[in-house]
Amino acid sequence: MPHETYSVTTPIYYVNAAPHLGTAYTTIAADTVCRYQRMNGRDVALVTGMDEHGQKVADTAAEHGMDPQAWCDSMEPAFRDAWEALDIQYTDFVRTTEPRHAITVKQFWQKLYDKGYLYKGAYEGWYCVHEETYYAESDLEKNGEGQFVCPDCKRPVQLMASGEENWFFKLSEFQQPLLDFYASHPDFIRPETRKNEVVSFVSRGLKDLSISRSTFDWGVPLPFDEGHVAYVWADALLAYLTGIGYGDEARAGEFEARWPMQYHFVGKDIIRFHCVIWPAMLLAAGMQVPYTVFGHGFLLTKGEKMSKSKGNALKPADLVSIFGVDAYRYYFMSDVQFGADGAISMERMVQVYNNELANTWGNLVSRVMNMTKKYFNGQVPQACADACENPLRPLAEALYEKYDAAMADVDFTAAAAAVQELAARANRYIEEMEPFKLAKDPDKQQELASVMYNLLEAIRVIALYMAPFAPNTSAEVFRRLGLGDIQDVHDIKVASAWGQLPAGNAIEVGAPLFPRLDVDDLPEFE
Ligand code: MSP
Repeated sequence: MPHETYSVTTPIYYVNAAPHLGTAYTTIAADTVCRYQRMNGRDVALVTGMDEHGQKVADTAAEHGMDPQAWCDSMEPAFRDAWEALDIQYTDFVRTTEPRHAITVKQFWQKLYDKGYLYKGAYEGWYCVHEETYYAESDLEKNGEGQFVCPDCKRPVQLMASGEENWFFKLSEFQQPLLDFYASHPDFIRPETRKNEVVSFVSRGLKDLSISRSTFDWGVPLPFDEGHVAYVWADALLAYLTGIGYGDEARAGEFEARWPMQYHFVGKDIIRFHCVIWPAMLLAAGMQVPYTVFGHGFLLTKGEKMSKSKGNALKPADLVSIFGVDAYRYYFMSDVQFGADGAISMERMVQVYNNELANTWGNLVSRVMNMTKKYFNGQVPQACADACENPLRPLAEALYEKYDAAMADVDFTAAAAAVQELAARANRYIEEMEPFKLAKDPDKQQELASVMYNLLEAIRVIALYMAPFAPNTSAEVFRRLGLGDIQDVHDIKVASAWGQLPAGNAIEVGAPLFPRLDVDDLPEFE
């Protein structure tokens, strides 16, 4: 671990659409990692925000008969509310139209201008407004009418007027420095498949990048040529700096402590911006480059990438109201292998909910709490001296290493499976030890006490490791065990060492954590 601060970003989302399952997915992943690292005592920053400039936003605002700023302002609650509903603990929410961000953008590009990395020239070529991306003609596809269309979103592309002068960033000079950087920083692009894709793209050669536009003014004016606004990507990427206090006197020292960041979490659609343009910009500025860009796959419904423009109407809040926020987070993190494309469906979500949350975790907690109430008057019993000899302890003791390695791999599926294994083992332990029989035998009271203690202790450990996925349920289990606020745990390794649940604690049975759901009356994912 390079340093004890731990800074993570989500993409800075376009404001032309409200958050949907895809954007929520990236955001939950970033938050899950951050929550875990807080439990490891790290000083975490999670930066998210809204990408508000550029032609697409200006066009969308115009379609709604609004000026662009008013349109962006009207979208902010949709983002803030969605992240609140999903329990995202972000530390900064950067709007690229904020004055503090304009300062970052101006300072940064002025620096590159001063260093001689920018020049003015004419751009002739193709541009997709929806993707806010330049394309070479050889990359384009044709539609049925013979029109050139964007290879990503399949919308017609625009030919940019040859008369338009742009500022260019000498990206082509960074081909070799980038290839060297990838080679010496093997963790910079993950997973491996994305790295191969980026390396082969860069190996084919890089063209200089147009970083300004002068045909519209919805953007940050470049300080050395005010008639030009920064290209939306030349603006939005810099929000990562703004979000940790770059150039902000009130946050003096924070940027230095937090840079370079640990992770940029992005979807694979925007990997080139983050793995080619962004590091080249930083190298040109003489700055360090973040440790890792993780490009995850797409959520698929019926075999296709889900996105709002394809008419997918199911919103994160709809799923939260059916499943609850914890089950929502757990399903997307555990069931879709992070890094690969993954199918999601209502049937599968219900299945995971019923099997892993209701039957395995929820049922374990309610059985053990009920038995504790019945046999020990609702108090954690004292384990006998040989209580260490039980099958749960070694599993619980091996958990930190397994889970931590999975998290380092950003393998949420493996991390969740490791916790499930302990919960499933604890359920089997109940069948093996039959506490309900022990309870009837006056000679077996000490054994009963130990069995129940082991189960309660396993429940405590499970709650700790489920907390990054299911923060509310874990907090509730802690409360029912008579323990303090789980958010105060800042050393999960020490906190999860076996045998710390105090005997005598009053427990509370409470309502089922995950009431069973029936799939028949639920809406479909589109
Ligand atoms: N504004 C840019 C990002 C600038 S970052 C400096 C942008 N915004 S976006 O609103 O279009 O968000 C794209 C991101 O949303 C993807 O990279 C991905 O993280 C997420 N997803 C959108 N659709 C998705 C799926 N179907 N599946 C998974 N994630 C998806 O691009």
